Amino acid sequence: MITKKIAVLFSGSGTNLENLFLKIHNKTFNGVKLEITLTLCNKKNAPGIAKSRRYGIEPVILEHSEYPERADFDKKLVEIIKAHEVDLCVLAGFMRILTPHFTKNVKAVNIHPSLLPLFKGADAVKKSYESGAKEAGASVHFVNEELDGGEIILQKGFKRTWDMSYEEYEANIHKIEYEILPQAIVKVLTQ
Ligand code: GRF
Repeated sequence: MITKKIAVLFSGSGTNLENLFLKIHNKTFNGVKLEITLTLCNKKNAPGIAKSRRYGIEPVILEHSEYPERADFDKKLVEIIKAHEVDLCVLAGFMRILTPHFTKNVKAVNIHPSLLPLFKGADAVKKSYESGAKEAGASVHFVNEELDGGEIILQKGFKRTWDMSYEEYEANIHKIEYEILPQAIVKVLTQ
């Protein structure tokens, strides 16, 4: 049986990370076993750290604040990921702009809470809600040197009703994220 190894990078609550532990970790798809072997967080107080521990993986904490130069942080990040010899790196709420050193050396996918190419960058949920867009959703894409600009792997949307609150709108987006991120990983690693 082939096993493919995954690294998950996160910065905050880690609900996507937890969803990946539940849906794909140590599970077999199309004859390929997927295993999360590295989790890494750039914020030492992130709630996602406890979630990772709950599934038996002690996260590597790599605080970006300790690296005045973005390039040095990325160099260390790439070094850690390479040392774990993973097949894919998943950015699950990893709030960092990555340098070409990362994008050239690491095969990575990212989950973004909008229907790309709309609303790239930070605060995408808020921006799309305030824009009055009639459809919203989430996208999984390959990571390249352009922020939220790599090839789209999967994308799914929902129709917004006129009376939808911000909370409902955001919850719908997260629900889609929890559906399409595992699917996209399975697609990239097993098909
Ligand atoms: C997600 O909405 C993701 O799309 C965005 O950051 C959020 C992370 O949430 N980039 P969580 O840490 O997975 O709960």
